[in-house]
Amino acid sequence: MTYSINVTDHDGKIHQLEATVGFSLMEIIRDAGLDIEAICGGCCACATCHCYIQEDWISKIQTADDDEESMLDQAFDVQKNSRLSCQIPFTEELNGINVTLAPKF
Ligand code: FES
Repeated sequence: MTYSINVTDHDGKIHQLEATVGFSLMEIIRDAGLDIEAICGGCCACATCHCYIQEDWISKIQTADDDEESMLDQAFDVQKNSRLSCQIPFTEELNGINVTLAPKF
């Protein structure tokens, strides 16, 4: 079974990326060569993997923990569907999820 995620980049272009269970959304996006900084490498310490989750999918993702919330507090352009993509492991349930990269800062 092949899984995928749909990622809208900074230019509004949608990319369908192959996704592997157990990898974070950030790793999938980064490894596909899209423009995501992810400076801390997924340690929840930079917020440069900030993304927006399409509303329909939010209920399928575990809520942000305190560390993620406090990093998001320091991010720019935060919306109610903001998440750090390094903190979301891809699961079968997330097959086809729609994610938009937040503006760079
Ligand atoms: S990659 Fe740094 S917080 Fe996600």
